[in-house]
Amino acid sequence: MSKPQHTAQEFWDVRSDLFANYYKKPSLFDKLFRKAVYTRTAVALKVIKEYGKCTVLDIGSGPGVNSVTWLKNSEASHLLGIDFAESMNQYARKHTGEEGVADRSKFIEGDFLTYDFGGQTFDVSVAVGVLDYTKESDALIKKMDKVSAKAFVVSWPLDGIRMALRRRRYTCPVYHYNEADVRRLHEGCNIKNLEIIPTQGGMVSIARK
Ligand SMILES: C[S@@+](CC[C@H](N)C(=O)[O-])C[C@H]1O[C@@H](n2cnc3c(N)ncnc32)[C@H](O)[C@@H]1O
Repeated sequence: MSKPQHTAQEFWDVRSDLFANYYKKPSLFDKLFRKAVYTRTAVALKVIKEYGKCTVLDIGSGPGVNSVTWLKNSEASHLLGIDFAESMNQYARKHTGEEGVADRSKFIEGDFLTYDFGGQTFDVSVAVGVLDYTKESDALIKKMDKVSAKAFVVSWPLDGIRMALRRRRYTCPVYHYNEADVRRLHEGCNIKNLEIIPTQGGMVSIARK
């Protein structure tokens, strides 16, 4: 790709079915090369389960397939999803309804970076598959720290072949990180420890308070 033609919001607003199907109808390619997508879902679920009847903020919630997995497999009392692509929110609302967890969830349209939560905090916040499209990574992590009472979980893509392919195929800007970036971006956060788990072509970080 010579020059990105779309914002991440424009790019993802027309891809709710595509992304949902990575989970619902995984192809052989997905199973082989998108393992990180499934690993990060499992890591976030493990963290959510640690906190019992917790509240969850799903940042860049997309089609809500993860949201449903986390709600159905944990005691989480409520999940708020925020996504700036409204077609993703529409998909997520329908999906949570079909899966019987609509009463424990809500999906709002907005940019996490600028959305005013009015001082509201969540026990656990999660941003998986989001930093890939975030130029303001420092601001995003600092805001996650602010809105999270107990822990926050983030996925990070590494540079490599998959990232090179995405740079060619995706029409929006994409970003990558190394472990030093992840540690640096958490400096100054109000956390007790930072766990970094390697995944296929990336990492998942767990910051606990
Ligand atoms: C690759 S999808 C991942 C969806 C979901 N987290 C998952 O892993 O299944 C990325 C989503 O993040 C959303 N997104 C990216 N940056 C965002 C931001 N700053 N605020 C709200 N949504 C954002 C996009 O619209 C898109 O739906």
